[in-house]
Amino acid sequence: MRKLVTVLMNIVLLIGAIQEGKSHGDQPLSTIAIHKTLFELNEEAYVKASPTVLGTDGRHSDWVLVEYSSPHPSEDDWIGVFSPADFNASSCAAETDYIDPPRLCSAPIKFQYANYSNPDYISTGNASLKLQLIKQRADFSFGLFSGGFFNSKLVAISNRVVFQNPKAPVYPRLALGREWDEMTVTWTSGYGIDFAEPFVEWGITKEDRKRSPAGTLTFGRNSMCGPPARTVGWRDPGYIHTAFLKELWPNSKYTYKVGHRLYSGALLWGKEYEFNSPPFPGQDSLQQVMIFGSMGTAEVDGSNEYKDFQHASLNTTRQLIRLLQGTDAVFHIGDISYANGYLSQWDKFTAQIEPIASTVPYMIASGNHDRVWPNSGSFYHGLDSGGECGVPAQTMFYVPAQNRAKFWYLIDYGMFRFCVANTELDWREGKSNTTS
Ligand SMILES: [Fe+2]
Repeated sequence: MRKLVTVLMNIVLLIGAIQEGKSHGDQPLSTIAIHKTLFELNEEAYVKASPTVLGTDGRHSDWVLVEYSSPHPSEDDWIGVFSPADFNASSCAAETDYIDPPRLCSAPIKFQYANYSNPDYISTGNASLKLQLIKQRADFSFGLFSGGFFNSKLVAISNRVVFQNPKAPVYPRLALGREWDEMTVTWTSGYGIDFAEPFVEWGITKEDRKRSPAGTLTFGRNSMCGPPARTVGWRDPGYIHTAFLKELWPNSKYTYKVGHRLYSGALLWGKEYEFNSPPFPGQDSLQQVMIFGSMGTAEVDGSNEYKDFQHASLNTTRQLIRLLQGTDAVFHIGDISYANGYLSQWDKFTAQIEPIASTVPYMIASGNHDRVWPNSGSFYHGLDSGGECGVPAQTMFYVPAQNRAKFWYLIDYGMFRFCVANTELDWREGKSNTTS
């Protein structure tokens, strides 16, 4: 009998995006002192956005035309995009530097200078922008501000625009499970378990399908450890669902789509995707994995630019998509979205990686920009996570650890055992953080 030669490789990836000597710069949204904004609405100024309904062709991203006019244009005027559209001051969190008169207590989800596309805005007072929006459960509105980013004054507010089916299930991300023959599917929606039951319909491509139920997680503002995540950066993360697809046949192509069964009996569906199941462990096979850290997210419309912050993430994402064919898994080993406490950016990130994460397992580890916050249990004590203290990262992505907050786990995949460690918690001998 032919002897199977199996090579067990123990690869220890000392992960967690080893604490960097310096941060990657500020999150662009943090450059706006939104809580100091004053209301100076001017009847002669306006902002209008069209179309008012986005994604009518079923797409989860769409373009909006924002047209505006100001009687006193200035080169530091800017347009802010807000979501939900009603961004008044009534929900100011206690920790926000909040004093009368009412100020804005929610950061925009993106911003751009008013003269970005029309340099003659300074003389004419008229200009427009084309901005890309993504489906993230709520509606949107647009504000025209004067006074730059530090002494902003809200001059005009637009009509609201909204995606068709804004709460629809979006941005599925695969992850390997605790057993070699298990794949997990995690996605985001606006439907809690009081409204609908989440599930995945799946099976070997062109064969019978079955349905597996999903668990649902979310987190509240009080789960954040500090500002801005707890104050101006807070945005409701929606509901995060995870289903476990078990007893997969090895090396097979599977088709899946996520869904929600409303208690009325109606079904809401996500899009259909495919993935390849893992090979049998130890069986002679070739693996190709991509391992990287510190990617972040950026805007294709040129907004949110600040010191070229993370713009390269678009190039990296494009390159990852080009290399997807033949790739078994992706390991993004920390510093995931660089939301840094501006929660809207987690939707942006999961939308950006959708072509990758919906097709191959997207395994994450913890980085300083995901986890570090003083007195929150992190080993380091900087402000790098912007108050997130790891909660969004560990909720938005599944990892096969007993305790997902700890990010220590191992995966047997084909010829490899991948061991993922975490240097954001105390990893020293005798500390319980080093077990799963
Ligand atoms: Fe980094």
